[in-house]
Amino acid sequence: SSENSNRLKIAIQKSGRLSEKSLALLKECGIQITTSPNALRAEASNFPLEILFLRDDDIPEYVQDGVADVGIIGENVMLEKGKKLELIDKLGFAKCRLSLAVPRGTTYDDVSFFDGKRIATSYPKILGEYFKEKNVNAEIHMISGSVEIAPSIGLSEGVCDIVSSGSTLLSNGLKEVETVLKSEAVLVANPDFNGEKRKNFEKLLFRMQSVRRSNK
Ligand code: PRP
Ligand code: ZN
Ligand code: MG
Repeated sequence: SSENSNRLKIAIQKSGRLSEKSLALLKECGIQITTSPNALRAEASNFPLEILFLRDDDIPEYVQDGVADVGIIGENVMLEKGKKLELIDKLGFAKCRLSLAVPRGTTYDDVSFFDGKRIATSYPKILGEYFKEKNVNAEIHMISGSVEIAPSIGLSEGVCDIVSSGSTLLSNGLKEVETVLKSEAVLVANPDFNGEKRKNFEKLLFRMQSVRRSNK
């Protein structure tokens, strides 16, 4: 039905650093959502909106393909995976940094340390660009999770991953040595949807911006 095709689809992280605050933001916008524990989608009862709960890393692909119209992800994921996403707004939560880290006992002077070294990361694109800019020739190894374990199992001399509280680095015997990127949650959109759906999105965006202003 036309009612169905006008319904905006937003993708948010299923579980992780962004999940709770993404859902809270929608609720603060006055949107009523009933979530059931393992459901991967939910419908708002008072707004033409469907919520898809996905792995954050997959959200850029889903939004680019139009499976979802908009999404909330970390800027880090947008820069690594986003090819044709429209950056709508920064959302001010889930602040973190993408950093290089090495085993705590390592003598480290500057970024040239990484010359000829192996680095494990889930962010090969961002890290590759960073090293290129710094004229560092390192061997980047792509790993999609539990990156911080790599040095202790002899897979690499360093890692490049997201640091928030720092407790993951600490418990894996690593120290942060360079900040590659600062990141926070962002709202992204497929650039190609129009009509009623766009209007509904603009309504939602207006509410989000009011919520953000009143929370400041
Ligand atoms: C990041 C990173 C660490 C953790 C660090 O994962 O990969 O696992 O957060 O946080 P801490 O400094 O507070 O210990 P992220 O939240 O990006 O989730 P994902 O890797 O599962 O997508
Ligand atoms: Zn993720
Ligand atoms: Mg992780």
